[in-house]
Formats: sequence, C-alpha cells, structure tokens
Amino acid sequence: METVLSGIRPTGNLHLGNYFGAVQNFIKMQESYNCFFFIADWHSLTTHPTPQDLHNNVTQILAEYLACGIDPEKATLYVQSEVPEIAELYLLLNMNAYVGELERTTTFKDKVRAQPENVNAGLLTYPVLQTADIIIHKATKVPVGKDQEQNVEIARKYARRFNQMYNVDCFPEPMPFNFGENLVKIPGLDGSGKMGKSEGNGIFLYEDAESIRKKVMRAVTDAGPQAPNSEVSEPIQNLFTIMKSVSQPDTLQYFTEAYANCTIRYGDLKKQLAEDIIAFTTPFKQKIEDIKANKKYLHDVVQLGTHKARESASKTLQEVRSVIGFRQW
Ligand code: TRP
Repeated sequence: METVLSGIRPTGNLHLGNYFGAVQNFIKMQESYNCFFFIADWHSLTTHPTPQDLHNNVTQILAEYLACGIDPEKATLYVQSEVPEIAELYLLLNMNAYVGELERTTTFKDKVRAQPENVNAGLLTYPVLQTADIIIHKATKVPVGKDQEQNVEIARKYARRFNQMYNVDCFPEPMPFNFGENLVKIPGLDGSGKMGKSEGNGIFLYEDAESIRKKVMRAVTDAGPQAPNSEVSEPIQNLFTIMKSVSQPDTLQYFTEAYANCTIRYGDLKKQLAEDIIAFTTPFKQKIEDIKANKKYLHDVVQLGTHKARESASKTLQEVRSVIGFRQW
C-alpha cells in the first residue's frame, strides 16, 4: 500500500474551504492508503519563535481534524515534536543540503521579505525538515497545494541525492498528490477568489453563529439581475457555490429561480445562507468542544499516533545510520 503524508501547521482554524478541500481529501485517503497526518509544530517556530499558546493551538487543530472524521486508528495522526527521530534525520540531511540552493527557494525568499527581522537558520532549512518529515516514512504521495510543490520537489531532490551519495536505494521519490480533481472549491465572500487563510476571508467550523451571520451579511453582491435569465456575476455565483455545499437542494433551486426571474432579494439570500452555514458548522463546533474537554481521549490519540509514527520512523533511521556508517557500540 502506498504511503501518503501531509503536515499541518498549527496556525489558524479550519475554515469551510479547508473542510470541503483538504480535509475531505484526507478522509477519503485514509480509507485506501497508509496515511500519516501530523501537526508541524516545529515548523511553526520558524515564524512564531515564542508562541503564546503552542499546546492549546495544537490541541485545537487535533480536535478539529478528529471532529471532521480523521480516524486515528486508520491513519497515523501525530504531533511532529513527539517524534525525535525526525530531528535526527533532519540533522543528517542538513549535511547534504547546500546553503546556496536553500537560499534560492521561493518560500525562503518570501519569508525573508515577510520577516526581515527574523531570518533564522530554521527558516533557511525549513525544506530540509519538511524532507525529513516526508522521507522518514518513505512516503510517495504528498497531498499539498500549489504553494508547497517546490518543497516537495526539494524533498525529491534530497531523497535522490541521499540514494546517490551512499549508493543505496533507501528512499522513494515523493510526488505531490491531488486526490480528488472534482473536489468543491469554496470561494470567499469578498467577491472573488477562494476562501483561504492568507486571504483572511475564512468562515470557520469553530465560529460563533453571530460572527458567521455578520460575515455573510457583509458579503459582496452586485446591483441585481438586470434582465430575466441574465448571467450570474462572480460574487453572486460564489454565494450560490457555498449554498450548494451547505444548504438543501430546494433552497438553492429557490434562489436560482428567483435570480432567473429577477425577484431575488440578496438580503434574503444572505440570511438563508448564514442560517444554513450555522446549521452546518454547529455540530462540528460542538464536537470540537467535546473532544477538547475529553483530555483522556486526546491523550490516548496522541499516544497512539506517537507510537505508530515512532515505530515507522525509527525503522528508517536505523537504516540511514547504518548506510552513513554509524555502528552499534
Ligand atoms: N510546509 C507545510 C505548509 O506550510 C507544512 C508541512 C510541514 C508539510 N511538513 C510537511 C506538508 C510535510 C507536507 C509534508 O503547509
């Protein structure tokens, strides 16, 4: 069975775009692949060196993924910092990673621009740590967005380089992986583009009803249909797209028809959409709260994940140590 691996930075809660995109992907993949999903808390220190609340952030993200249906029995769900083998592989890989090539990566250059006051070595070697994450489980498929493709390419390069330098066939080359081509892309409420963290336009699973109402009521619209059956503008299409994911089919049909015959009132559309989003997210919010309150369950989940991840990681690390020339004393 092929191994799939993805890391999740513990910054920011899951929004509807994540839910209908990456998370649905993970849930499907855990049924048919050997999946590793982990919280990249070491990586988060490259941008947030003194996190206010690291433990609670990790807990929140874990609870959110569990509430969405990541199954810790089927997948290996773990916290990066609980697996010291990753740090050792990172150290060893750093010896064969060149400063020049790391300086040229787009993500590094972006970060240098974004935080000129903190260009730390961890930032430079971020892709080396990411490579260690991936190849320590010999993963071949990495489900990531466009922005992460270069990092996967670097992982491929370092896996290949390791094999060549020591003349072994230790690591397979990981590939970016897009599971469902036909996954729903949730747009933002700001008239164009997608819902995303960097766009700052998310509606979160863990969000108060009042706050959701406010966001939806502020959504961008247009001047209204000017003639029967006229083309739907992008902002309105976006509202319909979200409605398609969270509302009953007859609700969508009602407003689509109202648009076509020019009787639509955007205020009504938004009110209905807000209530349907709230009805959709409320059970998740409740579940996230239940999981966070159940310390024993969370402890058991992390124990199990750590155990499974370390078992797999230490196997690879033994091999790597031996390949490089370390011997048992
Ligand atoms: N760099 C990824 C991001 O910013 C997170 C990440 C860390 C990751 N390690 C990984 C993703 C390994 C895929 C595989 O989202």
